[in-house]
Amino acid sequence: MELTEILAEVPVPSMAVGTMYFGTTVPAAEAHSVLDVAHEQGAWFWDTANNYAFWAKGGTGDESEKCLGDWLATRGPRAREEVMLATKVGARPRPGSVGLSDPMGLSAAALREQLTDSLKRLNTAHVDVLYAHIDDRTVPLEETVGVLGELQAEGLTRAIAASNLRADRLAKAVDAGGPSGSGYAALQQRFTYLVPDSEADLSPHVLLDGPIEQICINAGIAMLGYSPLLSGAYTRDDRPLPDGYATSANDAALGELHSVSDQVGLDAGQVVLAWMGQRDRPVLPVIGLSGPEQVDSALHAVSTALPVEALTRLDAARSSA
Ligand SMILES: NC(=O)c1ccc[n+]([C@@H]2O[C@H](COP(=O)([O-])OP(=O)(O)OC[C@H]3O[C@@H](n4cnc5c(N)ncnc54)[C@H](OP(=O)(O)O)[C@@H]3O)[C@@H](O)[C@H]2O)c1
Repeated sequence: MELTEILAEVPVPSMAVGTMYFGTTVPAAEAHSVLDVAHEQGAWFWDTANNYAFWAKGGTGDESEKCLGDWLATRGPRAREEVMLATKVGARPRPGSVGLSDPMGLSAAALREQLTDSLKRLNTAHVDVLYAHIDDRTVPLEETVGVLGELQAEGLTRAIAASNLRADRLAKAVDAGGPSGSGYAALQQRFTYLVPDSEADLSPHVLLDGPIEQICINAGIAMLGYSPLLSGAYTRDDRPLPDGYATSANDAALGELHSVSDQVGLDAGQVVLAWMGQRDRPVLPVIGLSGPEQVDSALHAVSTALPVEALTRLDAARSSA
């Protein structure tokens, strides 16, 4: 099923609510207030994973899915019908291992086991989008793509998707699906307005770049971008740009961003969110939100139409960076 078909079933704004730190850095009660506001305002596309956030203090990887599952359990079946749940599997550390050196991965058995556990934590019989979170090169792509297709056919997920694939591997995944393609409805990669230095080490994140965009467009795969706000660095003095982004090549792009921000009355981060959804090749932002006011800000951003000439200026400054 196409992601656009799923999103078109309900009038959701063009954004996903990122819940990576729900239940760890963002305590469950606060996270539930964010979900309440998002739900009330129609921001119904929620993004989690089966490893969020094992690296946070006290985290095991269960917390974000459990936080969403607890919210759904108390809000009843209607809320579950309204909300679209996307989760990711593959990047959860194997029991007894530390970090991402030995993840559970994307074999047929591992995918089935992880999805079963995710559905329990999320208190639901199915998810709407199931992502392969990483590129697991120990398993043939045909196996991963094949079992994801089976899980979809079994009704355990409505759509399947990938994340953190490089261009050659995405092309292979599309081929692995045979004439009808991989079946991937969506690809989620790191993406924002500023482009990092080509030498920057973003590992384990993988950027959405031009060649990958082209494969997605050719194969009809919807594009989503995570870390769109660079953790707040576009607007907050306490958040420096991450390594690789504070380059002189980005000075002009940042200047244009702030000029458009002044022109349209959005802050620079909001302009980035609006630009993502309105560029020629739209990328749906997956936005980390830790307070109700951040939900309001993001919703205002993605529902504000940028003037065509502002989009053109932003694109030009970005591509010359
Ligand atoms: N597929 C993958 O491999 C992958 C990887 C990373 C993330 N993700 C997904 O993407 C989501 C977002 O990722 P992210 O947290 O790295 O990205 P982000 O959206 O760039 O940053 C989110 C942070 O920005 C700050 N913020 C939010 N709204 C703001 C506003 N209006 N003004 C100023 N600051 C604001 C908040 O920081 P404070 O909370 O400190 O206020 C928030 O936690 C995650 O939750 C997850 O669902 C996926």
